[in-house]
Amino acid sequence: MKAIILAGGLGTRLYPMTTVISKQLLPIYDKPMIYYPLSIPLLMGLRDILLISTPQALPLYQQLLGDGSRLGVNIQYAPQEKPQGLAQSLLIGEPFIGGGQTCLILGDNIFYGHSLTSVLQSARDGLDGAVIFGYPVKNPQAYGVVEFDSENRVLSLEEKPENPKSNCAVPGLYFYDGAAAEIAKHVRPSPRGELEITAVNQEYLRQGRLKATLFGRGIAWLDTGTPEGMLKASEYVEAVQSRQGFYISCIEEIAWRRGFISTEQLCRLGEAAKSTDYGKYILSLIGG
Ligand code: G1P
Repeated sequence: MKAIILAGGLGTRLYPMTTVISKQLLPIYDKPMIYYPLSIPLLMGLRDILLISTPQALPLYQQLLGDGSRLGVNIQYAPQEKPQGLAQSLLIGEPFIGGGQTCLILGDNIFYGHSLTSVLQSARDGLDGAVIFGYPVKNPQAYGVVEFDSENRVLSLEEKPENPKSNCAVPGLYFYDGAAAEIAKHVRPSPRGELEITAVNQEYLRQGRLKATLFGRGIAWLDTGTPEGMLKASEYVEAVQSRQGFYISCIEEIAWRRGFISTEQLCRLGEAAKSTDYGKYILSLIGG
């Protein structure tokens, strides 16, 4: 399985913060937003990652993350010329994916929780079709919404419905088999002019090949779509990190724990940032 991170869009709901800066480069507490979704493929052991963003922002992501070798992974880049929807990332990523399985993550989605890695691994095991996730929220109208039957089978899927059939939002994290790009090719633009990822998932549902896994109470899915959301997400990260001493989405730590980089490499990364708490944390892992 390879990973695609989509960090596109104009971030219009965050103007003027995003007038000249790509939304997913803005900070959530002590690190760029993109670190959080990037931690997902790393936690899952996926080392081939394609980052898609606007042509203007792509060089900044390249400057930030390079070719990934610093983290023992392979990061490639591709432009999304216009923000024409999440499903377009499957088309842009088609040559990179090469007919294999994909994990698609939105660059502004933050997940954190004790059992997250094992939930993701078991959702991926035996993938046949597509897997989406469900997360109970108070404002499902703002998201894709999934409805389950009593045995947790998906009954329906709708994009930002006025009258949601459930309170379960669909977070921006999707697993697909090799058919996803082909399905995306048949998606027509929605009323908002976008190739909706929900349309791809609806086609998997129609084929009887869509599964959904519910994220339980132990997993946090944080919203970064508004200034308030960003502030609350920052406060959450700060609270967990300062209370527990464990960092959320420290990509260097994950790469090291996964065995992608050696202790010497981790040490060099920590040294390079040692004037910050972030760098000190990395150095504290060594010998700890
Ligand atoms: C997109 C998807 C939506 C999903 C959401 C998660 O919404 O279209 O189904 O629930 O991401 O963040 P958008 O951010 O494009 O409004």
